[in-house]
Amino acid sequence: MSVLEVEKKAGKVYIETYGCQMNEYDSGIVSSLMQGAQFETVSDPELSDVIFLNTCAIRENAHAKIYARLQGLGYLKKRNPDLVIGVLGCMAQNLGDDLFHQELPLDLVVGPDNYRTLPELIQTIRSDKQPVSLTRLSKIETYDEIEPRVVNGIQAFVTIMRGCNNFCTFCVVPYTRGRERSRDPHSIVRETRDLVAQGVKQLTLLGQNVNSYKSEGVDFAGLVRLLLEETDIERIRFTSPHPKDFPMHLLELMAENPRFCPNIHLPLQSGNTDVLENMKRTYSKEEFLEVVEQIKTIVPDVGLTTDIIVGFPGETEEQFEDTLDMVRKVGFDMAFMFKYSEREGTIAQKRYPDDVPEEVKGERLTKLVDLQTSISAEQNKARIGKTFPILVEGASKKSSKEACGRTPCGRMTVFKLPENISVDSLIGKTVSVKINFATSATLKGEVIE
Ligand code: 5AD
Ligand code: SF4
Repeated sequence: MSVLEVEKKAGKVYIETYGCQMNEYDSGIVSSLMQGAQFETVSDPELSDVIFLNTCAIRENAHAKIYARLQGLGYLKKRNPDLVIGVLGCMAQNLGDDLFHQELPLDLVVGPDNYRTLPELIQTIRSDKQPVSLTRLSKIETYDEIEPRVVNGIQAFVTIMRGCNNFCTFCVVPYTRGRERSRDPHSIVRETRDLVAQGVKQLTLLGQNVNSYKSEGVDFAGLVRLLLEETDIERIRFTSPHPKDFPMHLLELMAENPRFCPNIHLPLQSGNTDVLENMKRTYSKEEFLEVVEQIKTIVPDVGLTTDIIVGFPGETEEQFEDTLDMVRKVGFDMAFMFKYSEREGTIAQKRYPDDVPEEVKGERLTKLVDLQTSISAEQNKARIGKTFPILVEGASKKSSKEACGRTPCGRMTVFKLPENISVDSLIGKTVSVKINFATSATLKGEVIE
C-alpha cells in the first residue's frame, strides 16, 4: 500500500454481530459501506477507531448482553476518548435515544434502515463531540446494490426481503425492521453469481417472511427458480416461511430439483389454537398439521425444524400439553425453543400480562427440550443405513481426522477422512456418506464414494 493510500484511510472499524443471520448479513453491508468511505475493517477492537455492536432485540437477554458488552468496552474509551462506539441493529431501533441515558460509553445509535449514513454520522461525532442517533424506518431501503464484504468459506447468506407485516403479538421485529420490502430479483441473481465466483457452494436466502417475497412480478418460488436457472449455485436453502400462507408450489420445485434442499424451517410457536390466536399467528393446530402433511407427502425426505415459545401470557398446563402433542405428531428434526419474554412496544405487552411464573416457564422449557431431544434422536436414527450427498464444510469439532458437512435435509454429518485425503482438499466438495450411527444432534457415517 502506498503512503498516499494510508493517509486516505478514515480509520479502522471493528464490528461485532449479535442475533440472527440477517444481522450477520447486515454487518457485511456495514463493512462494505464503511470500506467505501475509506474505513478498514479490523478484527480486534483494541486496534480500532470505531466499534459497532450490531444488536438483537428479540428477547430480554439479547439486550442484557449488549449492556454488559458496552460496559466491558468502557476501558477502551477511557484510553482513547476519540474512539467512536455505536449500537446498530434491532436494539438501536427499539430503544433509540433511551440508550444514551444509561451511563454507557456510547456515541452512536443507528437503526437497520440508516446504515448508509454511518460514515457521515461518524464525521459529525468527530467534529461536534456529541452523541448522535438515527432510527428512521424506511419503506424502500433494501441495500440492493451493496454487496456485503465478508464471505465465509463455502456458505453465504443473501437477504431477499426485509421487514415484516405480520405483527405476531409477541414479536418486536415489525417495529425494529419496519414494513416488508423485497429486493430486485436481478440484483439477487447478480449477487449470487458473484458469490459463486468467490467459491460459495451453498446459499441461504434470508427474509423475516420469505413467503411475502414479491418483486417485478416474481414471487418466492419464481426467485428460487430464477437462481437455479441463472446461477451455478450448488445448494439453496431459505429461512423463514410463515405457516399461514406456505407456498405449496414451492414444494414441487423442491421435490424435482436436488439443488433446492429439502429443508424447511416452519415456526410453530405454540401447539394450541387459542394461544396461536392470542399470538395472532392466524393458523390453528389442525391447519399447521395439514401444511406439514402436504410437505411430507410431496417432499418425503424433508428435514423440518421449528421455533417454539413456552409460557406465552395465559398459557395453561393443558395448552402447553398441546404443544408437546404437536411436537410428537410432527416429528421435527430440530427446534429452537424459548421462554416467552415480554418486549417493549409489542401488542402482547399492551394486551396480555406476562403472568406465567418464571419457574413454570423454566419447567415447561425443560420438558419441551427433553421431548424434542428424544425426537431429534429418533428422527436421526431413522436415517441409519441411508446414503446422503454431504457438502463438506471442514474438519469436525472433535477430531482433525474427521470431516463434517450437512445432508440436503440439513442434518450435520461427521465422517472419517479416507486414507491420504486431507480435509482441505474436500472442503466444498460433495461426497456420498452412508450413515451408520446417530445422536440427537449428529449423524455419523463412512464415505462410500
Ligand atoms: N419471546 C420469546 N421468544 C420470541 N421469539 C420472538 N419473539 C419472542 C419473544 N418475545 C422467538 C420466536 C421466533 C424466534 C426468532 O424467536 O419463536 O420465531
Ligand atoms: Fe415476528 Fe411474526 Fe414477523 Fe416472524 S412473522 S418476524 S414472529 S412478527
